[in-house]
Amino acid sequence: MVRKLGAMLAGFGMVAVCLAVNAADDKSPSTKEIMKAVSSKEGFCGKCVAAAKGEKWEDAQKFAKQLVECAAALPKNKCPKGDAESWAKLTKEYAEQAAAISKAAEAKDAKEFGAAVKTFTSSCKACHDAHKGGKK
Ligand code: HEC
Repeated sequence: MVRKLGAMLAGFGMVAVCLAVNAADDKSPSTKEIMKAVSSKEGFCGKCVAAAKGEKWEDAQKFAKQLVECAAALPKNKCPKGDAESWAKLTKEYAEQAAAISKAAEAKDAKEFGAAVKTFTSSCKACHDAHKGGKK
């Protein structure tokens, strides 16, 4: 199982980090690693959206699964800044919204998929404002 995932992820470079870290020693990836893996230009979200646009639903499903896997690890992390209760709520939503993207990809439902991605990508700022430390 792990081997198969590893092979699937080979070539993805650093974005494989969520699964790799999880598989290694049960240690969750850091928030930063999750953000990079999911939301950078090369991240799963962008890849998933691009695949869905081209109606490559099988690819979209694959990326969406990875998106979900990474997003699901976020609530396990401590928030770098801000209120723990708010962090618990927002990270749970992040994971749920990722799951909605995957569900729509599984259903090959372009309309549902678009709506789920929109919800997911409009949640970034609220969490960053509340919990992302350092420079803006
Ligand atoms: C539930 C909270 C939360 C949500 C939702 C969230 N982020 Fe983040 N994000 C963070 C936190 C916290 C950091 C700072 C992590 C650190 O530096 O340790 C961060 C950092 C980042 C970074 C910088 C990573 C780096 O290399 O330092 C990027 C890029 C980013 N987020 C993109 C996004 C995008 C795009 C979305 C929406 C699709 C999003 N984030 C949604 C909490 C969130």
